[in-house]
Amino acid sequence: MKPTVGTKQSERRHAPQNRTLALTQRETEEYRSRLIRINQPAALKDVLARTICQDIFEVLPFLPSASVDLLFADPPYNLDKTFNGSSFKKLDLDDYECWVESWLGQMVRLLKPTASVYVCCDWRSSAAVHRVCSKHLIVRNRITWERDKGRGAESNWKNCAEDIWFCTKGHSYTFNVESVKLKRRILAPYSDPDGSPRGWVQGQQGKFRLTYPSNMWTDVTVPFWSMPENTEHPTQKAEKLLAKVILASSQPKDVVFDPFLGSGTTSVVAKKLNRNFFGVEIDPHYCCLAEKRLANANVSQQIQGYVDNVFWERNSIAASRQQTIKPDWNIFGSSGEE
Ligand SMILES: C[S@@+](CC[C@H](N)C(=O)[O-])C[C@H]1O[C@@H](n2cnc3c(N)ncnc32)[C@H](O)[C@@H]1O
Repeated sequence: MKPTVGTKQSERRHAPQNRTLALTQRETEEYRSRLIRINQPAALKDVLARTICQDIFEVLPFLPSASVDLLFADPPYNLDKTFNGSSFKKLDLDDYECWVESWLGQMVRLLKPTASVYVCCDWRSSAAVHRVCSKHLIVRNRITWERDKGRGAESNWKNCAEDIWFCTKGHSYTFNVESVKLKRRILAPYSDPDGSPRGWVQGQQGKFRLTYPSNMWTDVTVPFWSMPENTEHPTQKAEKLLAKVILASSQPKDVVFDPFLGSGTTSVVAKKLNRNFFGVEIDPHYCCLAEKRLANANVSQQIQGYVDNVFWERNSIAASRQQTIKPDWNIFGSSGEE
């Protein structure tokens, strides 16, 4: 992969309802001044809460050992893809596996013994990513995220899913299952003989149950133009997806690290959930978007689809609105429903 860095997506005009975050020239200058580069061994305090604007392969040798509680890696998938000024060229599967090995293998040194690791991929490279993960880590599960977007195909099944491999460094690790239960509407509620609800509650909008979270995630939307978290990044993950990962696999104040930070979703959600964080991203424009989102997180800690410490299934935001009174509720606006 030979990235060439540029800033093609500077100031863009959007339609009035379009809430996509963009940067003005002045913001770009301001946020650029906050970015750092690492050219010598760094202590954890030097990188915490920072966006490192650099090639991960340059940075990795300088990052502190045994410092990370949670690693979330959303690398370029094995596709021809342009990220602003740089591009990733599709490789043979074996070569992609070697490329994943070249960074994931080095990242094990950064992990605490109790650390968890999540690695994203598509179905084509999932087996290769699994092989690398199982070489260095204990693979605990494969999460399948059902994306609601996907290009239809005439002679194949439309691809609507991505995999996220969940691994741990050792046998002792954090998993806060109570923090990531899903609030589901129930259609056929059971009642006890005395008529009391069995495991569900009656809300104004229907009957709901808190269910154990499975490895099939169907409640997370790809960010789109009417959502306040949306940016120009072509493969931005939803804050709700990161909230599940971070709440399940870290404690407050733990250190969350993202080596392919993109528009900053991991750092932003870590900040909103009171975790420590740092990230690396090669592209300065995306780094500045990440810094803008981090600044916005000083004003609002809302995470769309996660309300009152509960994850709501898709299309149930209206019900969650009925059940909570929040002064800044209309941050979700009239659109951007999940
Ligand atoms: C799939 S995207 C991550 C998107 C991110 N999860 C988000 O929510 O915005 C991968 C990112 O890795 C960056 N990248 C690619 N090669 C890199 C490298 N060698 N070092 C650091 N970042 C790199 C790309 O610029 C891109 O923004």
